[in-house]
Amino acid sequence: MFNGVYLTTLVLFSIFLTRIVAHHRKQCATQPSIALPAFEVAITTIGAPKYDHYKAEGSKRILGIGNNLDLERGVNRLYTVPVELGGKVFHVNLDTGSSDLWLVSDKCHTNACRGASVARYPTSFFRTTSMDVEMLYGDSKSGTFASGTVGLDTASIAGIALPRHPFALIEDTNNLLVQFGASGIFGLSFPAASTVQAALLGTEEGSDIDVDDYVHSIESNGPLLSRMTEAKVLDIPTFSISLERHTNGLDGKGLLTIGNLPEGIDNSSLTWVPVRLYPGKDGGMGTFSAAPEEVRWEIEIDGVFLEGQRLPESTTPANGVDSERVSALIDTGNSLLRGPEDVVVKILQTLSPRFDPNVAGSVPSVPCGMAPALSFQIGGQMFPIDPRDFVSQLDPEDAVACQADNLVPTDPPSYGNLFRWSLGTPFFRSNLVVFHYGNLTHPSVDPPRIGLRSNVPANAYFLMREAVKIAAEKGTSLLSRFYILHILD
Ligand SMILES: *[C@@H]1O[C@H](CO)[C@@H](O)[C@H](O)[C@H]1NC(C)=O
Ligand SMILES: *[C@@H]1O[C@H](CO)[C@@H](O)[C@H](O)[C@H]1NC(C)=O
Repeated sequence: MFNGVYLTTLVLFSIFLTRIVAHHRKQCATQPSIALPAFEVAITTIGAPKYDHYKAEGSKRILGIGNNLDLERGVNRLYTVPVELGGKVFHVNLDTGSSDLWLVSDKCHTNACRGASVARYPTSFFRTTSMDVEMLYGDSKSGTFASGTVGLDTASIAGIALPRHPFALIEDTNNLLVQFGASGIFGLSFPAASTVQAALLGTEEGSDIDVDDYVHSIESNGPLLSRMTEAKVLDIPTFSISLERHTNGLDGKGLLTIGNLPEGIDNSSLTWVPVRLYPGKDGGMGTFSAAPEEVRWEIEIDGVFLEGQRLPESTTPANGVDSERVSALIDTGNSLLRGPEDVVVKILQTLSPRFDPNVAGSVPSVPCGMAPALSFQIGGQMFPIDPRDFVSQLDPEDAVACQADNLVPTDPPSYGNLFRWSLGTPFFRSNLVVFHYGNLTHPSVDPPRIGLRSNVPANAYFLMREAVKIAAEKGTSLLSRFYILHILD
């Protein structure tokens, strides 16, 4: 059965490739030696309650990202891009922490689907593979799921279309993003973390994967951008993400580029670091030497700094895996900065001495004018978090009292989840992040990597303090002062 699907896909592929290649040739005709521009997609920012979704603890299959919606944390942002399936446009949440594309079906009426007014994929369009999937998301404190069936349809983003793309049509989910305007999730991580691809290979949870079969099936059954990479329709097997800071579009810069760097960004201004590889024993794709070991968009970090002081490493033991190397998931599916509990509590108590994580309702309050400086050292370079991405006002009318609510603890490393930190959307608002797949089937030839460039102005802390001072004098909401800050950038 699998071979049948594969062959049919190849036939359709060549038809499609002819079209794309023709399109590229036209562009090349005038400037043959110049790299092709990136395909660009504007990222829409939706105001939503603070939203963080990441890995499932203890999951055997390497699942992606989940969500953990905490209505009490106030308003945050949800980032979506338009993806077309079967000629219909769906706004889906951009998720570098998971690998599957899913959409809610018009038959989904349970849990979070109830009353959701997002665009839904019509069951009448559905060409099913009859493979059921359940994607589990969340951490030890929370968990969400999305369950449904894998189907095939032409999927396109930024005008690049792939026929017979496998996606999950969801009939039941408790993932609240559908309540806030997203029709599903668009996972941009590696094939090894794809539930849909595994299901199409008939892989049962916990059973061994034939690595060769799996790698060969990336081209037909892999995640959308991985398939585009394999089909060689992209100039460079890369995508980049920059997220805007505000919900009302004043920054207006959220951009996903596919196939190249954003226009005007010089590669030499980026710091490139390798993606952390997962040995088979820690949740990688098996013990074969040729197996791709990239599982997540995860990179090692040299150190974490608060006000220029290097913080001691976490002493929390890892859960049966390598505890020595400190790495971070780079994840748009998480709206917070998450780290080891001991280090996080130390940071919060340094900034807010009366904060007690064991007392319900205790908040890490800080004066807004403190503008704390938190930085991650990666590849020998410092990547600060803009103070606007680290603290938020306790009350929108009060420019003086803030809280450091964007930093929370996460679980220690475990099988399939080697990272200690998960750097979510606050990190993306402070940095341009470029994701390079390398060669997905032969990573030893061209390994995957991440490039980073800080957007934080050198005087960000000074600007924040000034803005808070002015706002406090005038009694103006800090939020509006933030816009002035941005204009000053
Ligand atoms: C990856 O490398 C292999 C071996 O060198 C090569 O055959 C294949 O075409 C490469 N894949 C891509 C997408 O360039
Ligand atoms: C940019 O430079 C890095 C490091 O030299 C390289 O790996 C990458 O392929 C280059 N280009 C792009 C667009 O990523």
